[in-house]
Amino acid sequence: MEMLRFDFDNLMAPGLRGGVDAAAFSGDMATRFARAHARVGEQRAAGVLGFLDLPYAQETVKEVTQLADGFAQWFEDVVVLGIGGSGLGARSLRDALLGPYWNDMPAEKRDHFPRLHVVDNPDPNTMLGLLDRVSVAKTLFNVVSKSGATAETMAQYLIVREAVEAAVGADRARGHFLFTTDPTGGVLRRIGQAEGIPMLPVPENVGGRFSVLSPVGLFPAAVCGVDPHALLSGAAAMAERCRSDRLAENPAGIFAVLMHHADRVQNRPIHVLMPYSDRLRSVALWFQQLWAESLGKARTLEGAQANVGPTPVAALGASDQHSFLQLLMEGPDDKVVAFIEVMDHGTEAPIPARHPEMPELAYLGGHTLGELLNTERQATAEALRLAGRPNATFYLPRVGPGELGQLFMLLQIATVYAGALYGVDPLDQPGVELSKRLTYGLMGKVGVARPGMPDPDPRWRI
Ligand code: PA5
Repeated sequence: MEMLRFDFDNLMAPGLRGGVDAAAFSGDMATRFARAHARVGEQRAAGVLGFLDLPYAQETVKEVTQLADGFAQWFEDVVVLGIGGSGLGARSLRDALLGPYWNDMPAEKRDHFPRLHVVDNPDPNTMLGLLDRVSVAKTLFNVVSKSGATAETMAQYLIVREAVEAAVGADRARGHFLFTTDPTGGVLRRIGQAEGIPMLPVPENVGGRFSVLSPVGLFPAAVCGVDPHALLSGAAAMAERCRSDRLAENPAGIFAVLMHHADRVQNRPIHVLMPYSDRLRSVALWFQQLWAESLGKARTLEGAQANVGPTPVAALGASDQHSFLQLLMEGPDDKVVAFIEVMDHGTEAPIPARHPEMPELAYLGGHTLGELLNTERQATAEALRLAGRPNATFYLPRVGPGELGQLFMLLQIATVYAGALYGVDPLDQPGVELSKRLTYGLMGKVGVARPGMPDPDPRWRI
């Protein structure tokens, strides 16, 4: 498997006007990185970075594969119910590895693997539209919630549970469910245990946004024929590469250090990830959640007020050249762009050489769409560089499971390095809690604040 490459020349001087100089990179920045690397090493030793162990979880992979092989034969549709980190990984894998029209293809073209739907938002139109579209009697519902308490996912579960019981009867309904949840606790596990519903674990030390390579992402991919081993071996190869404490040799370290520097030193807090591939659009959204929820924090590890965190933005090339690029080129100089270029798109669409008499069209003939897409990436990077706007590029050899495993692992490791550089805990998300709690109260949960009443728990009184 060819490794992905991170090209950061357009962040550095002298290529970029005002770019990072080599002396700072190998001096101060390398020292800062060494400290972050040591901190991540401590976290790893303390057992809190479970995502680093996922590529080696052979037993779990066996369990995922066995369940996936069985379910793939029985069901025409698989619906993942999960939100945030419990949905974005599955969607990224589906869009990248199965392609944009998987669910529209006839069964033969899918080698009789099921269609895959990922439902996160509790929008009634989406939910009921989906239940209308699939045959519930031939559908597996993979309910993914680490806590087993998330209102959106659990409400969807309650709805589909009724729909399945109405379609196949209460006795056979449990055969239409697979729960992916906490290995020991939570309501979902309790229901699963009581009813004998198959369950896959989200390891205790793996949080939602770091769970794409756990059963959360592996099962939905495997049930549609993706080989989890390939994904995990790519991730393992990248994890190995990122073990180095030498900044210049560690791609996750380089990305984290340069993005942190862009934010804190150069006042460029907006970090855009812009793949030039429709298949990777959801990966950019996955990264948006990972970077935002991990790094946007009120307090440092020591408890001091900080309110730090970059603002990640998911974009898509070449489409967003026609909506976003103007702002990137000429708007406030507060952004840095990381492109993803796919070197081999796996298929080619040659552009016919028609109208040789019209120079406006003739230049396109004989090229391919993939070539056009990649050329546009190259041209955009150069235009930004000429305008003094920093950018970098991940070169992905192809959109295959191994390459995707590498990319996921690189960005997750970069996130924990960035957490150490910002001095915050990248694994928690206290800011999400209050809104969840107010939702529970407003929806009538007992023992939680109701409108116009103080929260019964003094810790939540503002
Ligand atoms: O990354 C995270 O931790 C969150 O985005 C969670 O994945 C999300 O809130 C869903 O939580 P749960 O899996 O407990 O339903």
